[in-house]
Amino acid sequence: MTMPEAEKRISELRAVIREADRKYYVLDAPDLTDAQYDKLMAELKQLEAENPQLVTPDSPTQRVSGAPLQEFPSVKHTTRLLSLDNVFDLEGLRGFDKKIRDVFPAPFYETELKIDGLTVEVVYEDGVMVQASTRGDGVTGEDVTSNVRTIRSIPLRIPATVSRLEVRGEIYMPKASFLRLNTECEEQGRNTFANPRNAAAGSLRQLNPAVTASRDLSAFFYEIQFADGKEFTSQEEKTAFLKEMGLPVNPMNALCNGIEEVWVKQQVFLAARHDLPYDIDGVVIKLNDVSAQKALGETSRCPRWAIAYKFPAEEAETVLKDVTLNVGRTGVIAPTAILEPVQLAGSVISRATLHNFDYIAMKDLLIGDRVVICKAGDVIPEILRSLPEKRNGTEKAIPIPERCPTCGGAAVRSNGEAAYRCINPDCPARLRESLRFFATRDAMDIEGMGPAVIDLLLEEKLLSGIADIYTLNMFQLVVLDRMGTKSARNLLNAIAESKKRDLPRLITALGIRNVGTRTALEICKHYTSMDALMEATVEDLQKIGDVGPIVAESIAAFFANEKNRELIARLKEYGVNMELYQQEELPQLLAGKTFVFTGTLSSMTRQDAGEIVRQLGGKVSSSIGPSVNYLVEGASAGSKHDKAVSLGIAILTEQEFLSMAGKESDIPAGTNNEPEQLSLF
Ligand code: IVH
Repeated sequence: MTMPEAEKRISELRAVIREADRKYYVLDAPDLTDAQYDKLMAELKQLEAENPQLVTPDSPTQRVSGAPLQEFPSVKHTTRLLSLDNVFDLEGLRGFDKKIRDVFPAPFYETELKIDGLTVEVVYEDGVMVQASTRGDGVTGEDVTSNVRTIRSIPLRIPATVSRLEVRGEIYMPKASFLRLNTECEEQGRNTFANPRNAAAGSLRQLNPAVTASRDLSAFFYEIQFADGKEFTSQEEKTAFLKEMGLPVNPMNALCNGIEEVWVKQQVFLAARHDLPYDIDGVVIKLNDVSAQKALGETSRCPRWAIAYKFPAEEAETVLKDVTLNVGRTGVIAPTAILEPVQLAGSVISRATLHNFDYIAMKDLLIGDRVVICKAGDVIPEILRSLPEKRNGTEKAIPIPERCPTCGGAAVRSNGEAAYRCINPDCPARLRESLRFFATRDAMDIEGMGPAVIDLLLEEKLLSGIADIYTLNMFQLVVLDRMGTKSARNLLNAIAESKKRDLPRLITALGIRNVGTRTALEICKHYTSMDALMEATVEDLQKIGDVGPIVAESIAAFFANEKNRELIARLKEYGVNMELYQQEELPQLLAGKTFVFTGTLSSMTRQDAGEIVRQLGGKVSSSIGPSVNYLVEGASAGSKHDKAVSLGIAILTEQEFLSMAGKESDIPAGTNNEPEQLSLF
């Protein structure tokens, strides 16, 4: 490819990837499969590696580019980032409204979810993200640009409508990602985060952007601090502009006529609270009219035209009746509190996580204590504190385990870890958890193989290892209690279907210590088959971005273990896919596109070319018409050329067609007609 061609292709790929990011992260309506996306990204990375002078900071490949920092430089905000006053009830809201109505009768209010995350300010210059910072004290914050760049819902480039745009939003971690991260931390014996807000803050304030990139952070934007040469007359207009710029804006935000309507809206938000995928801690109410906002002004810390209504705290008092121990798939022994059931935040709570034994000591917990519980960031119940003043002397200490509660093997605490682990690889509890994990949605996604079915199969001794899943048959299943013919058939179908999963899923499913979904995806960018990965050395593995010495050691140790090699060999024998993509899962790069081939192609027949198009989701037509997207011309092409030109149809050389289809081509450039137009697909 010549340099101008590469430049053109790079800019097309960037545009497609940016749009895919926007559809996925902002509109929540993805239109490419992961495989298609990865393929485009791989092509872009390759082209940029071949043409380093064409790499720009706003390229989607540059999301993780900064080297680890020693400390965060400070940033002076050009416009002060104000805070909000709080009210806690209807009376407080009416008080706020009254002060406004004294000056502006009949106000409209923009009512927004108060996202429980942390403020970020992002600056765009001529449409390119140039800086992102935390709020700090409102005047000076920390420069977290390299980290914010890794957050895929925040565009690196926006339409260059204004020369400088400063926007404010909230970075958060979705509840599900928070739970996943904490499970991972627990598995690795690291400290867990108390709630999604702390997890988001901890993930953003990482000196190494690669760590931030590995955490699932997202954002909503809600304020324009500055837009060069642009004036807004209302909050509503600002929100519309943020959306127009492709920035994520919360879809629940609503305009209310008067404070009573705000109160009704607040109840709607409160009712939706527990079903939202992220935490909110209240509602923010903003006077809609910007000229009225300006007239009201601000106090030293907060605007007079906006207020936060904080939802009531959700806490309850109960009794810590007992502590049970659960053994995870890596052997971590996790203590769980058994509580006197109590109503909290819309559900009855009878268990709470205790994380590890350091946590129990830190909270000074005894069995029999009265304790105050809350939902940590609205998700998992947690013990806030014990109430030692209510003890009567019958309370008992919580013993530290010396043995695994399931197999009786030694429980060991390794250096630097908060957790105790069962070190017996054959512990039945570890097998059960490994099986559960293997079948989960993020791993092999075996529908119908939930915890209850796994327990049943274990009880019946039908499973004694992961590979046994693929030996199950109809005769074994139909005789089981609680399993009819139909469920048995469905389960076997789901198991058969899971053999086609791609390699990253299989690697995740194996439950290699320190290797989660994201690392598995990174690994597969370098190793496209299980065989190749199994032979990789610790040094080889460390060449993968994201993989440091600990992860590399974990992977190598996993494959050095004879039992694990045997497991892989059996999975292979049963037909589980061990390659990056399955044949039938080829990325549908040409979906929705119609091709016509003309002339003699040099590297294949027209039939072969048609087959490639069909395999990649496209269509082939024999004649030029308005529904045709591309004419691919070989040598001595005929009259189709002129017709295609008259209809404005893109004309491709054989080489361009092959590169569009993601196939390596060895046809020298310039042996065919020059294209009239290069294609975007
Ligand atoms: S407006 C002048 N809107 O809540 C504008 N803040 O307690 C001030 N927050 O520091 C902020 N969601 O970090 C605003 N929809 C929203 C918000 C929001 C969350 C946070 C923000 C702010 C804090 C104030």
